Amino acid sequence: MGERLASKVAVVTGGGGGIGEATGALFVQEGATVALVDSDAEAAARAAQAIDPSGGRVLAIGADLADEAEAARAVRETVARFGQLDVLVNNAGVRVYGPITEATPESWERIIQVNLLAAAYCSKYAVPELIRAGGGSVVNVSSTNAVVGRSGLAQYDATKAALLGLTRSMACDHAEQNVRVNAVCPGFTATRYHVRRRAEREGTSPEQAAADLRAEGSQCLLGRLAEPLEIAYAILFLACHESSYVTGATLMVDGGTGMSVDGPTSR
Ligand SMILES: NC(=O)c1ccc[n+]([C@@H]2O[C@H](COP(=O)([O-])OP(=O)(O)OC[C@H]3O[C@@H](n4cnc5c(N)ncnc54)[C@H](O)[C@@H]3O)[C@@H](O)[C@H]2O)c1
Repeated sequence: MGERLASKVAVVTGGGGGIGEATGALFVQEGATVALVDSDAEAAARAAQAIDPSGGRVLAIGADLADEAEAARAVRETVARFGQLDVLVNNAGVRVYGPITEATPESWERIIQVNLLAAAYCSKYAVPELIRAGGGSVVNVSSTNAVVGRSGLAQYDATKAALLGLTRSMACDHAEQNVRVNAVCPGFTATRYHVRRRAEREGTSPEQAAADLRAEGSQCLLGRLAEPLEIAYAILFLACHESSYVTGATLMVDGGTGMSVDGPTSR
């Protein structure tokens, strides 16, 4: 049991699985009490039970954070239960596959609502609480593809790039109030989402899909997918006092995605 977040209270959005659940578990291990907020209320409840079977340290909140009123409620319920708020992790996200020629007003609206506006709404209600607590930290979970191009997820990548802009400008707005705002950009991470998607596509079991994903590896310098906990450690760093001089930053946690291993003579 660590003490990096001793007596701190955190909201982790999209806490029902994957990176969000791993972050919630790590935060609790480091002394925090945590609200896991997710539109999938059952997933949030299951994650809360897995992290803290005795209850008391983890609160599960079902909320569609694309709705500003729901974001306000999630923050309100967390503060009502735990008395304060010190850390907000904006991790909830959705994906839309396909090139921009296939995008529709509806697909744009949904992905912007969740990947950008939900983070903005949660921040709108959390930041005053962080200020009331004497300062705090907001960590936005973006993506390596906010800064490295690829094909097939243009809408997603655009929203994740927008999240980096929000991160920097929020950092400017709230530095004087001792609120730091940073972003983590995960690379390809072995979460339930990707396992489920692969299992559906290949018609295999989740166990086989997870093994196949890991065996296939990833096009990054390290050659493999990240595990959710490896992303959670970066989020923990930005959430706790060890990053006290870091704000407005983008931390790539992607195994070196987009970096070249070519030598100096290659073109
Ligand atoms: N897994 C990866 O390879 C990867 C890579 C880069 C970035 N990311 C980002 O990391 C974050 C977590 O990804 P993941 O793969 O762990 O999980 P995920 O993408 O499956 O989903 C995150 C969670 O967000 C929740 N969610 C979706 N819409 C919501 C809404 N409107 N309100 C509240 N909750 C909502 C989902 O129910 C889910 O539990 C996402 O923002 C994702 O874009 C993931």
